[in-house]
Amino acid sequence: MCGIVGYLGFSQAAPVLLSSLRCLEYRGYDSAGVAVIENGQLAVLKATGKLSNLEVLLAEQKPQSTIGIGHTRWATHGVPNNNNAHPHLDCTGTLAIVHNGIIENYQTLRSELTGRGHLFKSDTDTEVVAHLIEDQLKQTGDMLTSIRHAVSRLEGAYALGVVSQRFPETIYAVNHRYSLTVGLGDNESYLASDSVAVRQYTNRILRLEQSEIAEIGQGVVKLYSFDGIAVDRQPVVVDTSTGAFVIDKAGYKHFLLKEMHEQPTVMRQTLGKYLKHPNAPVDFSVGNASSIGSESCAVNLTAEDLSGVHRILVVACGTAYHAGLVGKYIIESLCGIPTEVEVASEMRGRDLLVNQHTLTIAVSQSGETADTLSAITEAASKGSLTLGITNRPDSHLCHITSNLIVTECGIEVSVAATKTFTAQCACFYLLALYIAERIGSVSPERLSQLKGELLAIPILQEQVLSRENEIKQKSLRHAGARDVVFVGRGVNYPIALEGALKLKELSYIHASGYAAGELKHGPIAVLDRDVPVISILVPGALYEKTLSNAQEARARNAQMIAVAVDGDDNAQKTFDTVLSIPPVDEFFSPLLTVIPLQLLSYFIADHLGRDVDQPRNLAKSVTVE
Ligand code: G6P
Repeated sequence: MCGIVGYLGFSQAAPVLLSSLRCLEYRGYDSAGVAVIENGQLAVLKATGKLSNLEVLLAEQKPQSTIGIGHTRWATHGVPNNNNAHPHLDCTGTLAIVHNGIIENYQTLRSELTGRGHLFKSDTDTEVVAHLIEDQLKQTGDMLTSIRHAVSRLEGAYALGVVSQRFPETIYAVNHRYSLTVGLGDNESYLASDSVAVRQYTNRILRLEQSEIAEIGQGVVKLYSFDGIAVDRQPVVVDTSTGAFVIDKAGYKHFLLKEMHEQPTVMRQTLGKYLKHPNAPVDFSVGNASSIGSESCAVNLTAEDLSGVHRILVVACGTAYHAGLVGKYIIESLCGIPTEVEVASEMRGRDLLVNQHTLTIAVSQSGETADTLSAITEAASKGSLTLGITNRPDSHLCHITSNLIVTECGIEVSVAATKTFTAQCACFYLLALYIAERIGSVSPERLSQLKGELLAIPILQEQVLSRENEIKQKSLRHAGARDVVFVGRGVNYPIALEGALKLKELSYIHASGYAAGELKHGPIAVLDRDVPVISILVPGALYEKTLSNAQEARARNAQMIAVAVDGDDNAQKTFDTVLSIPPVDEFFSPLLTVIPLQLLSYFIADHLGRDVDQPRNLAKSVTVE
């Protein structure tokens, strides 16, 4: 987590750093800080809490400088306070470090450095890096050598930005198993953890590869390996014209509300990119449309490859994990290939049972989630075929998967994922159709029918969103809940999990999602008047059983809420509140049923005065394991 930025040029650094940090605030908002060189002296300004606090400080202090680095923090080591806020300094106060990642051996290094007389001012793992560089700088006087020596002592995954008043015309950056992008303008350079922050200024960008050090001057950059060998790689020119990176609420009260409303458009874009009409094949060979530059998006799995796939493994975290669970249901139904879904962090420290007959799919909105990246890397090392589903074709995930599907969502600013979830689900429908087409598991007629139904989903999503006011009014009846239980069966079981996650993330009301059949096996014990049950009830094979499970809850005096289709009289009779959606085939229903639950969570959270776009303790991109 955390976001790193840097600027070096002829303009005032502080406003550029601030604007770049604004693009990265989704990575953490526990504190923010900058280090600039003002009249030859290093000056550090930090503020606990949101970036707006740093903004006030910068407006008051108005540091005059054309070089600086900045940071937005999601606390890992040390509570969120000013001492632990980045940048961190060496003992001389002339060198500043910003850091993303974890230095795993920091305690050993800290003891060693303390023993040599270094004084530590924070509880962070980061600070050891400043002191390690300081030690070497004393001996060699050369920054590159000193940084190389420091990184040779570090264990873990990290990205760093470094400035020193002894070298006032250079920013140093280090990338080791993270992401860092350098942007080059005319006599100006930019640095950021996410290329979005750089693209607002320039279209010439250079990504640091793994284990590289960058020596950044005004409009120029030199790259080195950790061995000190110069790396010859030229910047790429990216298309910044599509507006895919525009960060604007477009009149909505929150980014979250805007992003929920974007779902039909996003769905049309994602479906339209890979499936032109019901009788066309799903085609993932199309280049990546969204302004990313060198990487292209393609799935090149032949019928022969796929007939050798005996098992599919999906790895993901959070909301992306729930999309994977929808994917399991879809793939198994259409392709008959056993599919398992694992929380990526649970793949660590155990022997992965994958081989060349496994297709491992990593799902990650950001493409930077450390747990997911580790899991897919390990699967690849065991010979598994790999496929990534992401919203960020410039992310690390795209470099380590052989096949790639990109969701066409544009930037998702709100920390809670909404439009990227439905787009990830859409990708699983497309992928299942693609596989089924190649292995012949579904007849051509049925395939065309399914494709037609899938292409019609955006219209139905629009109809759900048009009921926003009614959903708001009904949702607010339950804003006083102490706890909420979400239940669903089959393809809507993951939607129960996602509904519960959204409510927790946004409103801080505790919520749990269960397979509806599990309610009677324990969770039913928590039900009372203040613990409502939300059932997802869509006509189909599982309808009757889901309804029976709801009756069991009703008998315990719980307030009953359903997401049900128009005209469902049973739902109207059984439930206190019905959030209705247009009739939809059970198979495609997750693309609709999740929307009232997103809206319910949003309206309750907003009613309770929560910070819906940046809920407490969360970050959008979790780059630590
Ligand atoms: C964090 C976010 C979640 C997100 C998860 C996975 O926990 O708060 O909203 O679902 O990371 O992120 P990814 O970028 O891999 O989809």
